[in-house]
Amino acid sequence: MSDSTAAASDYTDPTSGLLYCGLCHTPKECRIHVFGRERTICCSCACELERWNAEETERQQCERLARIQRLKATALQNKALWAYTFDRDNGSNPAMVYAHNYAKRWSTMREKGAGLLLWGGVGSGKTFAAACIAHAVTEQGYPVLMTNFGKVLNSLSDMFSEDKNRYLASLNEFDLLIIDDLGVERNSEYALEQVYNVVDSRYLSRLPFIITTNLSLDELKQPKDLAHARIYDRVLERCTPICFSSRNYRKDNAAMNKSETAKYLID
Ligand SMILES: Nc1ncnc2c1ncn2[C@@H]1O[C@H](COP(=O)(O)OP(=O)(O)OP(=O)(O)O)[C@@H](O)[C@H]1O
Ligand SMILES: [Mg+2]
Ligand SMILES: [Zn+2]
Repeated sequence: MSDSTAAASDYTDPTSGLLYCGLCHTPKECRIHVFGRERTICCSCACELERWNAEETERQQCERLARIQRLKATALQNKALWAYTFDRDNGSNPAMVYAHNYAKRWSTMREKGAGLLLWGGVGSGKTFAAACIAHAVTEQGYPVLMTNFGKVLNSLSDMFSEDKNRYLASLNEFDLLIIDDLGVERNSEYALEQVYNVVDSRYLSRLPFIITTNLSLDELKQPKDLAHARIYDRVLERCTPICFSSRNYRKDNAAMNKSETAKYLID
């Protein structure tokens, strides 16, 4: 019988009369019974199967990498954040260990709907840490969106109620939502209402979210009015506070210890 994959070294096994591969010495033919008649058909020898499996693995790997690139382009629309990855961490910020552990234990965090509240002074590395987590989680194949409250408020300000609801629902299509800079809404009642809508929608979805803010933990725990309390209460319930200012770092341990999520973040 004709065999397009036959090689010069292939041979016919004298006992079975079947064609064997000259490389791996396993059969390239097998016998089957069809309507009471025995027929000899082609099959794959071990080295052919191995080659196909390797090609399939490579194809899947290429597909996975392409998917991750697409996920990253969606997750980090601000190109400046593309450079913020754990391998660029200079090791100077002790709080980064919690960010590492959050990403490392992402599947547990996701299951628990556990988020983080990265709070601290200007330039203390909150956005850096959040973007590192965004990278690491997309690399695990999950859709992430990292945006900031300024951008979210801008988007919502032009929308009518139905579009707003659609927009809020679209944020919940991401397994992890990271929103930078809570606090920009401080002085506007309208903006506060929009921030409440975003936070409440995420809160109700039970999906994890990460918030960064320049507000202090005390300000978040003792909001000045009900409008702020409605937002901060939800954030504090779902997001473990991590202090991004080494001076106040120890002070924050009390809050860390109280949180159930803390045990996953401390190595
Ligand atoms: N662990 C780190 N390793 C390397 N570079 C870092 C690290 N943390 C922060 N940086 C760098 O420091 C700068 C300030 O960090 P970042 O923007 O994250 O601060 P921030 O806390 O978000 O500040 P703001 O409150 O003003 O938003 C950035 O340029 C960032 O690249
Ligand atoms: Mg920032
Ligand atoms: Zn073979």
